[in-house]
Amino acid sequence: MDQHPVTLQRLLEICQPPSTREKVLQNAQYLCRERPVRYAKRVKLFQRLPYIVNINPHINSAYQVYYQNFEESKQFPMVKSLSDEHKFIKMLARQSKSLKDIMPQIARGFYECRRYFGNDDRCRFLDQLIKMRIGLRLITSQHLALYDQFQAFSNGDSEHSREGNRYQGIVDNQLWLANSVQVCAQGVQAMCDMSFGDSPSFTIDGQTDIVFRYIPSHLDYMLTELLKNAFHASLKMAENTQSEIPPVLITISKGDGKVAVRIRDRGGGIPSRIHNRVFDYSFTTFGRNSTDGPREETPDATDGTTSMANQNMVSGLGFGLPMTKIYAEYFGGTLNIISLEGYGCDVFLELPSIKVDRTPTIQI
Ligand SMILES: Nc1ncnc2c1ncn2[C@@H]1O[C@H](COP(=O)(O)OP(=O)(O)OP(=O)(O)O)[C@@H](O)[C@H]1O
Ligand SMILES: [Mg+2]
Repeated sequence: MDQHPVTLQRLLEICQPPSTREKVLQNAQYLCRERPVRYAKRVKLFQRLPYIVNINPHINSAYQVYYQNFEESKQFPMVKSLSDEHKFIKMLARQSKSLKDIMPQIARGFYECRRYFGNDDRCRFLDQLIKMRIGLRLITSQHLALYDQFQAFSNGDSEHSREGNRYQGIVDNQLWLANSVQVCAQGVQAMCDMSFGDSPSFTIDGQTDIVFRYIPSHLDYMLTELLKNAFHASLKMAENTQSEIPPVLITISKGDGKVAVRIRDRGGGIPSRIHNRVFDYSFTTFGRNSTDGPREETPDATDGTTSMANQNMVSGLGFGLPMTKIYAEYFGGTLNIISLEGYGCDVFLELPSIKVDRTPTIQI
C-alpha cells in the first residue's frame, strides 16, 4: 500500500473554519488509512538495519513501539461516526504518548552502536526516520486541532472561535518571534541552572516586533536546541578560563518572506578539525573540553556499552544540530554556523514565513 502525502495547502485548509462533522469524519478516514501505511514504512526501515544494531536494547524497544502502533492502527476500524471518532482520538493520544521519549532513546541506541554502523548509513536512516516522524506528527496534530475546533464550535465556545482566526490548526498566523526566543532562552537557562548550577545571561535585539506564520512547536524545538548549545559552550568557556560567563546575544531580523535569528555566543567556537562533523548524528564533544576533540567511546566495564552516566539536560547525544537542520529545511529554511575558533559561534537560523504559494510543492 502506498503512502498518500498531503500538500501543505491541504493541511492548512483542513483547519479553515467552519469545522463540520463531515470534515472531521472525512479527515479521520484519511488518517485511518494513512497511519498504518506510514508506520509500516518505519517498521520496514528498522527491519533493514544491521542485526547488531537492531538488537541494541534502546533501538529494539523503539522498534517495538512503532510495531505496536502499526498493529493497533491497522486493526482500528474505519471511523464512520462521531462515537468512532472519540475512540480514534483516544488511540491517537495513546500512541503519541508512547512516542514521547522515543528520539532520545533512539539517539542513545545509535550512540552505543556507532562503531557498527557507518556514519553515512546512520545519517541516511535517521534523516528518513525524522522526516517521516515530522510528516506523521503534522497530519495527526492537524487532525487533533480540527477535532478541537469542531468541539469548540459545537459547544459555542466563542473564545476558541476567535483564536481560530489566529491559528490554522497547529500553524500560528501571527507567531511573535522575539517572544518565542525569550521563552525558550529562559527555559534553557532553567535547564542550565538545574544541570550546572548557573547559566549565561542573554539579550534579544534587532526587529523584535516581527510576527510571522509558522508552527510554534517546530520553532521552539529549534531555538531550544541552538540555545542549549550556545549556553553550554558559554558555561564551558567560563569554567575553562575561570572568568565570568560570557552573555549570549540573539538578534532577530526580517527579510523578504522570511525571518532570521542569529545566536551569537562567546563560548570558544568550534575547532576547525571537527567543524564538518557537527551535523553528524551522534557526534558530540560533551564530557570533554571542546578543544580536546570528539568524545571517544569508552566501553563500560560491565556491559560493553558506552557510559552515559554523566548525562545532563543540556547536551550529550549529538542529535541537536542534525535534527534542528531537518526541522529548518522541512519548510525551506536554512541553518548555518560560522565559528570563530577560540572565540565563539554565530548560528544563523533562517525560516520562511509558511506560505502556500511560495511552497506549493511541499508534500507532507
Ligand atoms: N555554539 C557552539 N559552540 C561550540 N561548539 C558547539 C556549538 N554548537 C555545537 N557545537 C559542537 O557541535 C557538537 C554537536 O552539537 P549537537 O547539538 O548536535 O550535539 P550535543 O549538543 O553534543 O548533544 P545534544 O544536542 O544531542 O544534546 C557539540 O557537541 C559541540 O561540540
Ligand atoms: Mg546540542
